[in-house]
Amino acid sequence: MRRPARGKSGVPNPIIVALDVPTASEAIDLARRVAPHVGAFKVGKELFVSAGPDIVRTLRATGASVFLDLKFHDIPNTVAKAVAAATRLDVQMLTIHCSGGSAMMKAALKAAQETAASMGRPAPLVLGVTVLTSMDSAALAELGGETVVEAQVERLARLAAASGLSGLVCSPLELQRLKPILPAGMNFVTPGIRTGAEKADDQKRTLSPREAIAAGATHLVVGRPIYAAPDPVAAAQSILASITG
Ligand code: C5P
Repeated sequence: MRRPARGKSGVPNPIIVALDVPTASEAIDLARRVAPHVGAFKVGKELFVSAGPDIVRTLRATGASVFLDLKFHDIPNTVAKAVAAATRLDVQMLTIHCSGGSAMMKAALKAAQETAASMGRPAPLVLGVTVLTSMDSAALAELGGETVVEAQVERLARLAAASGLSGLVCSPLELQRLKPILPAGMNFVTPGIRTGAEKADDQKRTLSPREAIAAGATHLVVGRPIYAAPDPVAAAQSILASITG
């Protein structure tokens, strides 16, 4: 597998492909094929639970950056230990739920920094997940509490920044509202990317790759528009062209 490409401008390629497939062999095959056109691979719950940490080691051994998207949400001590373990796997990004609270977020950040320092490598970017992009106001209402998605996202984003996090996972539609209220240099990782070529699914708040970058996304998480496309390589190429061209 080749090392992920950089864009024409030399800027790191912002496309993170979600390897949301059930087996290691499917993930490795997909990663090998799209690697020249993307910047990193996201390993999520399905793949990690079925293939285990070896899939991260295999991807890292190719030189690819890995985003471990397990969305940790537990007591601070447990999350800190999980983050330390992920840092030992040498992932470049990982996720925690902001709704776990400031103590949990601070514990996660500390674990990432201390573990990385003890291994002499850069700490992974700890990303806070605000409100899942599949959720709308009706879905929030079922949980009780805040029902305005934007208000809940803003509240959690401020809490994440105050807890020291320098990256968030959020809908690209939230960027206009979030960027002005958060510190400069914040990373915005946006799922909910749709090119218009694919069928409707559970993502309710979406933008195109180009629109998301224009809105300030620093990384784009793209799953089904690449892995479920009839030709994943062509889909990855076309998304890259749409943001660099
Ligand atoms: O297939 P699709 O492009 O919708 O995939 C989006 C990916 O981003 C999935 O792996 C999903 O778990 C993840 N994600 C998300 N919304 C969030 C955080 C992560 O869709 N808020």
